[in-house]
Parts: sequence; C-alpha cells; structure tokens
Amino acid sequence: ESLKLKGGSLAGKSVVVTAGGTREPLDPVRYLTNHSSGKMGFAVANAFKNAGANVTLIAANPLITPPSGVNFIRVETAAELLAEVKQAFVHADILVMAAAVADYRPAKVANKKIKKTADNQTMTLELVRNPDILKEIATIKHPGQLVIGFAAETNDLISNATKKIQSKNLDMIVANDVSQSGIGFNADNNQVTFLFAAGKQIKTNVESKAKVADQLINIIATQMQNQ
Ligand code: CTP
Ligand code: CA
Repeated sequence: ESLKLKGGSLAGKSVVVTAGGTREPLDPVRYLTNHSSGKMGFAVANAFKNAGANVTLIAANPLITPPSGVNFIRVETAAELLAEVKQAFVHADILVMAAAVADYRPAKVANKKIKKTADNQTMTLELVRNPDILKEIATIKHPGQLVIGFAAETNDLISNATKKIQSKNLDMIVANDVSQSGIGFNADNNQVTFLFAAGKQIKTNVESKAKVADQLINIIATQMQNQ
C-alpha cells in the first residue's frame, strides 16, 4: 500500500538521477551497450520534479524524450557519465543511479572503421574495466547525502542486490529482476524490491514505471524527514 505523496515534500532538495545505458565505442561506427531505454530513470526524475526537487538528469543514450522541467545532460560513455555525476553530486542531497553502466569498454578505440579480413573467421576483442561510479561516489559522500543504486539481476535477486549495498556503501538499492520480459529493461512496467542498508525490504507489485518511481520518492522523502 503506497502513501499519498504530499506535493512539494522534497522542495529545496537537489537531486541527481542517472538513466539509460552507456555506449562504449569500438570504432567510428560501432559500440558496445545494453538494453536500457532510460524509461525507469526518467520516471524517477519526473517523480522527483513532481515532489518539488531541483533535478539534474544525466542520461546515457536514452531511447525516449526526457521529461520537461529538469536540468538535462546527455552523455555517451561510462567515463563521461562518471565526470558529470561527480560534478553534479557535490551540490546534491540525493543521487539515484538508474543508469546501466557498461562494466567494460574496448581496450582500444580504432579511429577508422575496423575491416574484416578474408582469412579471419573469428575475432577477439580486448576489454578493460570501467570505473565503478557508485564506488567513486562513496569516497566523496558526506553524511546526510543519500546514495541509491539499482541492481539489475537475472538470478539470486535479493542476495546479489544485498551484496551491492555493502560493496558500494549505499543507503538503499532498488533490486530489479531483469530476467522476465514485460518488466525491467525497456518495458513500460516494472516490479522491484527496495532494500535498505539496515535490512528492511519492500516489494512492489507489477506497476507502471511512474508508479514504481512514486513509491521510491515517497520512501526517500520519509527517510529525509527522519534524518
Ligand atoms: N554502477 C556504477 N558504475 C559501474 C557499474 C554499475 O555506478 N561501472 C551502478 C549502476 O548504475 C547501478 C549499480 O551500480 O546503480 C549496480 O549495477 P549492476 O550492473 O547491477 O552491478 P555491478 O556492480 O556492475 O555488478 P554486476 O554487473 O557484476 O552484477
Ligand atoms: Ca554491471
């Protein structure tokens, strides 16, 4: 059962939301990416705006139009996302990382289109790790700043997500089962479990991403009032 949100309950708060999926270039015409559309992050940004917050929305390659009334920044790669998040977080009360960040990128980016050759039937790509944005944010986080992650899992949802709360020093994680079509990646609906650092869990029904976002904002507003 969700509480009705009092309008303006996050008035005066500065919020940074990330959305979409990063693209990691291989050459001028190709990149590695994932199935993130930006829909969940955009719904979260819009819900914060409706609650009266000042919202910076940093989006990696979204497939949909951003909400109006937010400070919108577009990025492509994980490295660009890291730089923008770090800069915006300094003045923020809350960060919600809904973006699907590529864990690896091609070790070399060719400046010309890579050509296939007649004799090569296989090709091996070398990838290198991207920075973990949430782990970097944990090193500059002040007490009072809330940091919330998402966990995209196909299996062992709660145990995998719980480990991420600890390893990334999060206040909360939104555990998202991405194994079923109809919810999660690029779907209009979602079903998530909100997991708190202290161990409490709240599971939503299958609902529109807007309704899931409203529940997240309600929980955050309550947490901000209590601290
Ligand atoms: N994340 C991040 N920087 C990365 C990778 C992920 O900040 N380089 C953030 C995501 O935005 C998300 C959270 O970390 O909020 C969890 O992302 P997820 O991909 O589920 O977890 P990983 O830690 O990358 O672990 P794995 O993909 O191996 O499950
Ligand atoms: Ca990952």
